[in-house]
Amino acid sequence: MNPSPSHILSGKHVALCVCGGISAYKAAELLRLLKKAGAAVSVAMTPGAQRFITPLTFEALSGRPVYSEIFEGEGTGRMEHIRSAEQADLLIVAPATANTLARMAQGLADDPVCILYSAYCGPVMVAPAMNDNMWRHPALQDNLKTLRSRGVAVVEPDTGELACGSVGPGRLPEPEVLLQAISERLLRKADFAGKRVLVTAGPTCEPLDPVRYITNRSSGKMGYAIAQNAAERGAEVTLVSGPTHLPAPQGVRLLSCMRVAEMRDLVMRNLPDADVLVMTAAVGDFAPEIIEKEKIKKQGEAPLVLNLAPTPDILKEVSALAERPLLVGFAAESENLLQAAQEKFERKRLDLMVANDISAPGIGFQSDDNQVTLISRDREPVELPRMSKLEIAGRILDRVLELSA
Ligand code: CTP
Repeated sequence: MNPSPSHILSGKHVALCVCGGISAYKAAELLRLLKKAGAAVSVAMTPGAQRFITPLTFEALSGRPVYSEIFEGEGTGRMEHIRSAEQADLLIVAPATANTLARMAQGLADDPVCILYSAYCGPVMVAPAMNDNMWRHPALQDNLKTLRSRGVAVVEPDTGELACGSVGPGRLPEPEVLLQAISERLLRKADFAGKRVLVTAGPTCEPLDPVRYITNRSSGKMGYAIAQNAAERGAEVTLVSGPTHLPAPQGVRLLSCMRVAEMRDLVMRNLPDADVLVMTAAVGDFAPEIIEKEKIKKQGEAPLVLNLAPTPDILKEVSALAERPLLVGFAAESENLLQAAQEKFERKRLDLMVANDISAPGIGFQSDDNQVTLISRDREPVELPRMSKLEIAGRILDRVLELSA
């Protein structure tokens, strides 16, 4: 049985961001429930929210100053209060209007809620509430997709009678439901505490000469999502990455490399400290036998012949060790997905294999979404629906926890 909200929330600090909607009054009740469960609550409000409910209400309920003006000066103690909200264990925007969600997705920072969200580095939840047509609008759905791809958890609105008179999705869930969602998010946050996770990501690059190299297609997004999710859940994360355009996720130790041999050395060096190794990297299978010191020149019409030697198989090497961490491999296949992935799962003696079909349209390499099947020894392959790479990362790490229990 899950622990009660007061078990989880006691001593925690929640940043509650309120936007201008009819359901803003429910945020006051949510604040009351959070306080009752033992949490400290800092409130930020958009100007719109203040037309529905006054900062004074939240100030009285939270016992703290409310962040309601962006140009509040030093000396009032308020700047300090805003800094402290940035250190909260979780930030929730409830109700989240279509306008604020758009501005969060765009990175605007011109009201207290958007400023706090931009400066905040911990787990973020949004609870949208609006008219049902606004909820269905492609622009709103695109903004939610962007936010989800950055790790923001969306609490789905309830369906029912809306303030505008129509019936459909768009109601802010009841404060008790929001309290439960916050508790679950905070609980999930800690389930990798004390675990050390080593992740590889991105492509490897094998130079031919000073200007050319052989590489594999890989954006690195899947590996960075795993590193981010593990760090959010309290793990100590080391990310060994080939060249990508991605920033290191918050709280993750990033070690950069180019060649397979460098990636192998970094993995081996960090392995003794790892409980889990997740190999998402698209490791090159071949490297030029010779790296030319000078740029290779064209020889008229003559073809260039390269001798490529196999690279070390990092996963296979690790799986042969007497003391090995839990091993997760990835198989990107263009045909016979399950059969090929199953074969690699056995050959590399893995604990978990994540298989994805790279021939499927709209997913894979550069995409924010993917569709994968999880293969492990203890159960039939589990085919997950298409979802964001961050959500997939969450599912993979859920399985890792089950397998290491
Ligand atoms: N891998 C590895 N070292 C290599 C190649 C791959 O550790 N030299 C890892 C990858 O990171 C991935 C898994 O092994 O987690 C499967 O990679 P894949 O390239 O699909 O497997 P290969 O054994 O290289 O098989 P293929 O012949 O299909 O390339």
